[in-house]
Amino acid sequence: MRAWKATIVPRYGAPVEVVDVAEPDLRARDVMISVRAASLNPLDYKIRDGKVKLVIRLKAPVRLGCDVAGVVTKIGPEVTRFAIGDEVFARLEKDRMGGLAEFAAADEAVVAKKPTNISFEEAASIPLAGLTSLQALRESAGLTKGQRVLVHAGAGGVGSLAIQIAKQLGLWVATTTSTKNIELVKSLGADEVVDYTKDKLADRLKDLDAVFDPLGGPSELGSLALVKRGGTVVGVGGLPDAAFAKQRLPVVRRSRDLARDPQAPRCRRACRREVRLPVHAPRWRGARRARRVARVRRDEGDHPQDVPARRRSRGVRRARARAPRAERSS
Ligand SMILES: NC(=O)c1ccc[n+]([C@@H]2O[C@H](COP(=O)([O-])OP(=O)(O)OC[C@H]3O[C@@H](n4cnc5c(N)ncnc54)[C@H](OP(=O)(O)O)[C@@H]3O)[C@@H](O)[C@H]2O)c1
Repeated sequence: MRAWKATIVPRYGAPVEVVDVAEPDLRARDVMISVRAASLNPLDYKIRDGKVKLVIRLKAPVRLGCDVAGVVTKIGPEVTRFAIGDEVFARLEKDRMGGLAEFAAADEAVVAKKPTNISFEEAASIPLAGLTSLQALRESAGLTKGQRVLVHAGAGGVGSLAIQIAKQLGLWVATTTSTKNIELVKSLGADEVVDYTKDKLADRLKDLDAVFDPLGGPSELGSLALVKRGGTVVGVGGLPDAAFAKQRLPVVRRSRDLARDPQAPRCRRACRREVRLPVHAPRWRGARRARRVARVRRDEGDHPQDVPARRRSRGVRRARARAPRAERSS
């Protein structure tokens, strides 16, 4: 069996190495891609540094690279959509990353034919950032034609695709950028551009249907003030922390993957102090604890009444339903 060159980190935080790896067995629905181009995303250095190990569990040595474009060299016996010689691009499955290599194997479900009018390099730059944008706008925020969205960091890898996808979805799009990139984001279709080095967002935008924020941190929290009641803020810039959990968050959504295990201990600590349930508490490991705390505090007359009932965690709703009527109105 032939060996390939692949880029790995032997353990989190260690320098990147190029090593020989054994060619994996092809599964029945796999295609083998001879990699012509691969892209680097912030996710790659976050994986290298172990910053996302809570949400993407990988075994050391960790293979790097999730976006590839190349040519199909082998197919498994059950592959129906591809043939040897097809030009394709893919966002590799999370547990089978390793696109910074000579070859990559992927289930055909995550592979698409490369459009003939773009290069391998252009194709490799699209999958992760493009899928992130599409999922944020269409699935997480549920935006439909005519609605108004702010895309933060419109000149970045994610933002530049998000603006274009938003326009394809028929949305009105505002974006933030520095002065040097104003013309770029306008050329991508932005309807309103806010220069974050000069302008105050709150002076220019309000009552938006949604904000898509790849930056995270203060930008994500600041976005809460820009959406209308019932609006949505979608963040992909990092995991929620204690400061985040302490806020009143009736409108914040985050992608399912990122929400799965976001620094649960810190969130639990924050919940203990504040008893303001983050909207996705049921998905967090700290959720059970948070719900218990919420019930206890409610008994103490300290229930977060400011969180609309339909946004409360399922556990709190169930507890309320079980409670006697007099107690329920407390
Ligand atoms: N790339 C992906 O596929 C992907 C997927 C999921 C999540 N993410 C997350 O999304 C974030 C951004 O990723 P990226 O690939 O887009 O990074 P990137 O290509 O490096 O872009 C970062 C952009 O942020 C802009 N920026 C910096 N400070 C800003 C501010 N205060 N306000 C508005 N814009 C500001 C910069 O614009 P100027 O040059 O105009 O200053 C720059 O263009 C990262 O945290 C990453 O982990 C990325």
